[in-house]
Amino acid sequence: MALIDLIDVRKSFPMGDGELEVLHGIDMKVERGEFVAMMGPSGSGKSTTMNILGCLDAPTSGRYILDGQDVADLDRDELAAIRNAMIGFVFQGFNLLPRTTALANVEMPMLYAGVKAKERHVRAQEVLERMGLGDRMHHDPSQLSGGQQQRVAIARGIVNRAPILMADEPTGNLDSKTSDEIMKLFQELNEKEGITITLVTHEPDVASYAGRVVHFRDGLVTSDEPNKAKRGASA
Ligand SMILES: Nc1ncnc2c1ncn2[C@@H]1O[C@H](COP(=O)(O)OP(=O)(O)O)[C@@H](O)[C@H]1O
Ligand SMILES: [Mg+2]
Repeated sequence: MALIDLIDVRKSFPMGDGELEVLHGIDMKVERGEFVAMMGPSGSGKSTTMNILGCLDAPTSGRYILDGQDVADLDRDELAAIRNAMIGFVFQGFNLLPRTTALANVEMPMLYAGVKAKERHVRAQEVLERMGLGDRMHHDPSQLSGGQQQRVAIARGIVNRAPILMADEPTGNLDSKTSDEIMKLFQELNEKEGITITLVTHEPDVASYAGRVVHFRDGLVTSDEPNKAKRGASA
């Protein structure tokens, strides 16, 4: 059974007196251990789909089976619980807390997950070291470069050891060299740690690190294919 299974997902938003449908029936499966890039022009429905995948928003109709559970049946608390257990997030704008050290930023999701203080500290340190930020742990976001801030955000996204990592335009604010470094990190997390990744981007260079590319246009999936020209972190 697929880890992620979207079945004929539609999404409408209130618009004037009526509703505007922006997803017109999305079908998309992701198997455990895959690294999937979601591509398409601005407004094609990538973020709306990602918000549904991340249990941040619900489909208007259709089904979403996450790890065998029909997510549409869950109430708000159950959704939050499955989200905490299953999914880490990385956003374009990093979304780090200002005037808060890298270490404290990475400890934050473990607070919600109920991990004890000592272990929060140890695990946050470990993950930051793994992200190459061992000497930056006590810096605030404002004292870090864009690439370093995004590495803190990735550390925060994986520190709860969720099996899925979701990223929406994670390199959108970065120059191309830094963006390559960040994409190699994602690829390493996928290949070495088996983390399943879904990543939204409109840049082919960024998508080239994924194992599979799903194209969106006007609220529909227009193609879904293995990435034959995958770039290797190990290469
Ligand atoms: N909360 C919302 N309310 C109304 N329209 C929305 C909302 N979110 C997204 N949309 C519309 O849905 C379409 C798809 O948006 P989005 O999923 O953000 O596209 P993408 O991420 O591919 O750029 C766009 O036309 C956008 O304006
Ligand atoms: Mg978007």
